Amino acid sequence: MSYEHFLEGLAQRAGLPDSKTFLSTTHAEKYKFAITNRERGKGLVSRLSEYGIKIDGAKVLDVGCAYGGNTIEMTLAGATAVGIDIDEKWLKLGELNARGECSPTFYLCDASTKQARRLLQPHGPFDLVIVNDVFEHIFDTAGLLENVSSMVAKGGKLYFQVPNGLAPRFVLSEGHKKIFGISLLAPDYWPHFVKTPFHVYYRRWEYFHALFKEYGFDIELFESIQDMDEGWTRRKLGQEIKAITVEREKQQYTGHQGRFIDRALEAYFFELRQDLKSADWKTLKHKYRTAFWEGVITKR
Ligand SMILES: C[S@@+](CC[C@H](N)C(=O)[O-])C[C@H]1O[C@@H](n2cnc3c(N)ncnc32)[C@H](O)[C@@H]1O
Repeated sequence: MSYEHFLEGLAQRAGLPDSKTFLSTTHAEKYKFAITNRERGKGLVSRLSEYGIKIDGAKVLDVGCAYGGNTIEMTLAGATAVGIDIDEKWLKLGELNARGECSPTFYLCDASTKQARRLLQPHGPFDLVIVNDVFEHIFDTAGLLENVSSMVAKGGKLYFQVPNGLAPRFVLSEGHKKIFGISLLAPDYWPHFVKTPFHVYYRRWEYFHALFKEYGFDIELFESIQDMDEGWTRRKLGQEIKAITVEREKQQYTGHQGRFIDRALEAYFFELRQDLKSADWKTLKHKYRTAFWEGVITKR
């Protein structure tokens, strides 16, 4: 099984002798996102199929494909899929992950560049582009959308999932580094909290809305929040403010770290309290309760 080769490769990267050892250590939790890549890829095939997107026979581009879970599962579901990623170590694992099962094309390149467009253009026009947990890692999102927009078929779709840094869940524990408060900080502040180079661009929904519209896409967001009624949402957000305040007290931040976090929290609480006074239910759910904005945009 190619997935076994992938797990062995992942274990090696973590400096462990084999995948069995790897899966029985704390590494398994740390690498959960990677370990579940094929399962998540299968899930995405089902989700998009249910949504009426045809995978069999489609030309698919997987942007930021990493170890290839989505690229491979799309290929196994009958698509001709191409994956592109900026990180060679993940692409090497992608090759192992596909070995003996299927042969999608993988490219090592920054997807927002003109070079990427030259590499990818011959494989298009694409019916489906996947950008799963990738936008937050990309500085030049306009470059990426310009590329995608020129390579996607008319009526073609782009599926996206992107984390929301204002969601209390991520304020309490940032999704990548599991650190309190940093989802509220701009990337320039991250070196004060994490080993560099690493940072994430947490952008507001309005940014993506403008970006997608600018490049000629219609937007459809999936609804993921099941709050029973408006009162429940408001109470829940009130509780989250308390939980974040309590957690801040427990943190050992001092000096620069303390100042940056406290300033960010002050602005966050101010905005959230204002919104609790004046924003409608839909806005509250979308702006704070949704941890990942997920949806499909369609090329007009
Ligand atoms: C959180 S991972 C998501 C992996 C994959 N999409 C998934 O759902 O399993 C983000 C990926 O985006 C890649 N990436 C970041 N910036 C990129 C860029 N400019 N061009 C291509 N890939 C990029 C990273 O190397 C990483 O593999």
